[in-house]
Amino acid sequence: MDEFRIQGGTRLAGRIRIDGSKNASLPLTAAALLAGEPVTLRNVPDLSDISNLAHLMGELGCRVDRGEGTMTIEEVDPSCTHARYEIVSTMRASICVLGPLLAKRKQARVAMPGGCAFGARPVDLHLRGLRALGAQIELSGGDIIAKADRLKGATIFLGGPFGSTVLGTANVMSAATLAEGRTIIESAACEPEIADVARLLNAMGAKISGAGSPRITIDGVEELGGADHIVIPDRIVAATYAVAAAITNGDVTLEYFPHDCLLAPIDLLQNVGVNVNRLDMSEEPTRCTVQVTSERRLKPGVISTQPYPGFPTDLQAQMMALLCLADGNSIITEKIFPERFMHVAELTRMGAQLIRQGPTVMVQGVRRLFGAPVMASDLRASACLVLAGMVAEGETIVSRVYHLDRGYARMEEVLNSLGANIQRFNPERKHEPEPPVITTVPAAKAKPSTVATK
Ligand code: EPZ
Repeated sequence: MDEFRIQGGTRLAGRIRIDGSKNASLPLTAAALLAGEPVTLRNVPDLSDISNLAHLMGELGCRVDRGEGTMTIEEVDPSCTHARYEIVSTMRASICVLGPLLAKRKQARVAMPGGCAFGARPVDLHLRGLRALGAQIELSGGDIIAKADRLKGATIFLGGPFGSTVLGTANVMSAATLAEGRTIIESAACEPEIADVARLLNAMGAKISGAGSPRITIDGVEELGGADHIVIPDRIVAATYAVAAAITNGDVTLEYFPHDCLLAPIDLLQNVGVNVNRLDMSEEPTRCTVQVTSERRLKPGVISTQPYPGFPTDLQAQMMALLCLADGNSIITEKIFPERFMHVAELTRMGAQLIRQGPTVMVQGVRRLFGAPVMASDLRASACLVLAGMVAEGETIVSRVYHLDRGYARMEEVLNSLGANIQRFNPERKHEPEPPVITTVPAAKAKPSTVATK
């Protein structure tokens, strides 16, 4: 398994472009199951999660043509409606095929996704919503077996104990597009990724209003056609690289930055001493150019993760790495996934002072972190450890970086293009790792470079 060898102490400088959103691309791909014609997605990130879902779509009787940042999906065999455990267990987001399969093909067999590194990942809200649309759903042998002749519109409250469900909203909204009559989803997820899925569905002929708000209204139609859709930028990747600039006290320009979808994290960053400045106010605020710089010593902060538009749980680990070096004590409370703290023990190995009480961690700011061997456990915890390794004194080895590859395309190449010193290597392979190719261009002269391409 690949590892990263990181030499700390470099300040990042330069210019990168943010890729398309993983968490939009996944439900967008699944939504293509509803179409009777080809659906093309553009600005699709090159990630292992995307490849896994493309493989599943192939098993579900679709032809998937992949190009440079594009994916075209066309149904060829509607008889394949089984999403096998072997695939779903490697990527629980595969659950997002359930609603589209059920609505278009009247049946679906989807393995129950297991938990993950930060706890149980139930799907009871997904099933509640689909049952409300008239689906017969039973659980058998670890699989969800769903059937429905024609779904019927309903008014559904989709909120759970931790608020709304992102993929649950995508599943129910997608299924409702082909239901008979009107569906109202109350307590829907408001994430930008949901609004992006609604934009695609409406381009395919659906009648959806209110996506991006807590109440979504869908008027069912008989069928949906093909469409061509550009995926929104990845707000979590964008904010992760903004934190990378801040934690190294660097000066980085980020293109295709979804500023308007990151107001909560930007507010927090400004409060602790990080400047995220838009360079061209005439640009579209969901894909604009920003410059990130920071004070040398940051102030502490207080974070509670919330459903959108609150502070996203997917940035909690990255912000914890940043606040480890603040001048004072910060408080981080995880209200979406209370167990999402696998990174705490690893940061502690690097000299961070962290005190956890249930869903809350107190981060006592320290003057420095020290490089150490650490282990990635989930996607965002992995990113957190890379950020910490870049600012730690000495060498950090991050193992199991396959977690990182699920959500960050060639992260080491992107960061090395800004001046980081990260080598990807596989300890099982005998030869010595190649020295990193470090191409730093002074920020003033940096040419717009895409996020590391193949
Ligand atoms: C999406 O997961 C994201 N994944 C996650 O990002 C993100 O952390 C999460 O939303 C919350 O924002 C994708 O979009 C592919 P939820 P999802 O259903 O939809 C509870 C990443 O790092 N819940 O919104 O699976 C659940 O336990 C990933 O990119 C129920 O109780 O999350 C959690 O506490 C990690 N019953 C809360 O709701 C349900 O049926 C939010 O979960 C469903 C969820």
